[in-house]
Amino acid sequence: MHELALILDFGSQYTQLIAKEIRKLKIYSEIIPCTASYEEIIAKKPKAIILSGSPFSVKNPEAPRIDQRLLDGSIPVLGICYGMQLIVDMLGGKVENFDKKEFGNAQLNTSDHPLLQGLRSVEQVWMSHGDAVADISDEFECIAFTDNSPYAVIAHKSKQIYGLQFHPEVAHTPNGKQIFENLLVNIAGFTRDWTTESFIESAIKRIREQVGEDQVILGLSGGVDSSVVAALIFKAIGKQLIPIFVNTGLLRKNEVDEVESFFNKEFGMNLITVHAEEVFLGNLKGVSDPERKRKIIGATFIDIFEQEAKKYANAKWLAQGTVYPDVIESVSFKGPSATIKSHHNVGGLPEKMNLKLIEPLRELFKDEVRLIGEELGLPHHMVQRHPFPGPGLAIRIIGDITAEKVTLLQNIDAIFIEELHKSGLYDQVWQAFSVLLPIHTVGVMGDERTYDQVCALRAVNSIDGMTADWAELPYDFLKKVSSRIINEVKGVNRVCYDISSKPPATIEWE
Ligand code: XMP
Repeated sequence: MHELALILDFGSQYTQLIAKEIRKLKIYSEIIPCTASYEEIIAKKPKAIILSGSPFSVKNPEAPRIDQRLLDGSIPVLGICYGMQLIVDMLGGKVENFDKKEFGNAQLNTSDHPLLQGLRSVEQVWMSHGDAVADISDEFECIAFTDNSPYAVIAHKSKQIYGLQFHPEVAHTPNGKQIFENLLVNIAGFTRDWTTESFIESAIKRIREQVGEDQVILGLSGGVDSSVVAALIFKAIGKQLIPIFVNTGLLRKNEVDEVESFFNKEFGMNLITVHAEEVFLGNLKGVSDPERKRKIIGATFIDIFEQEAKKYANAKWLAQGTVYPDVIESVSFKGPSATIKSHHNVGGLPEKMNLKLIEPLRELFKDEVRLIGEELGLPHHMVQRHPFPGPGLAIRIIGDITAEKVTLLQNIDAIFIEELHKSGLYDQVWQAFSVLLPIHTVGVMGDERTYDQVCALRAVNSIDGMTADWAELPYDFLKKVSSRIINEVKGVNRVCYDISSKPPATIEWE
């Protein structure tokens, strides 16, 4: 068990960032909805509690609150924005509605209170609030202020209860992490026991206890999450792991060979590759509609995977690469302005398979998954791979899909990705890929007129794929990629670069 900094989520868009920032301090943090009961919270044995921001106003009678006993001083508590206003409201102070919302950078005048150790006398902080603290009770003192917020940081005089009007978790508060460190390490006494080594050690122990002598089936896709799950479970139970790799025929160039040779030769696994290229292509024949493509691919995948998995009668478990953001999303507290995420479901296996789920990464953020992967011996390029959609190249070939088009797109994309690696740009963009368009255009090659296909290149920067900006790749780079594609890939005579952001466009074209 790791020491826990528990975050009560009141629906702030920044809640996950709080957890990520705390984990960077090697302190385990978990998010639970603010509606959790006092007993549930205490049962988790938190060593500190953080109250997140919220789209609510504490003055709204419907606004979520917490059990008064959490503020008895036995566990250190930090309230951020709404969290602070809630503390003030519950402990005898006054919160008022500002005429104007305060949004943006502010200069914080600090003091030498232990919560603010190591900060400069004036620090940049990020504000985003409509309500503000108008008065605090005598039990509290104000330990920092800004021009617009006289109570920017408050501290209880005898208990370990604190409040921040600004957001220490965002990048616009460059020294915010110092406040978390002061609170958690210096004040609450965390020992920083959340390290990759300690995670791996406890995960291995847990997997062994959970599965005993049973076999575990895993759908390995070659992506980051399933590769790390494979490496971790293999380390725990060796060949009791049955990794199944379905070749849909819609993967990137050479991907099947690379994944096979890495896991079989270097890792010593018995990867079972199911060659289902023709089944997928057959089922997709003549289909152009993106959602139908997705449905067909999802159903075909499940079918094929199930047929293969059924061969292992001793398998009682199905391993999945669920990561922490998936878990949070399914339990998170939805405030009035909650955004609705669209889910891309491809590999969800039917319950009728009667396997129990094992999800060893469900506590981890993506960056942590990558670190664990490297620690387990996966190569850098494997753990730093861009996301790749379950339906693969099928949703990057606009219109219907044929084997020839898949090969064409694989060759185009391989050049783009190779050049990104060579120029050191691959790790600087969040996702990059190519799209094959269903049109022909005129060109000249030597003395000949051509009438060939057009492709588009797409590279975006993003945090989580929910919003994205197109990446400003250097012109020289684009020139080189375009010229290589047109010269080396027969059948393409025009290359475009996609300069649309999400929203209103999406990252994929379908
Ligand atoms: P969009 O196109 O929705 O993409 O802006 C956001 C992220 O999701 C990936 N994506 C998918 N992933 N199945 C997946 O597993 C899908 O059907 C799918 N569609 C989009 C996309 O590559 C990007 O990273």
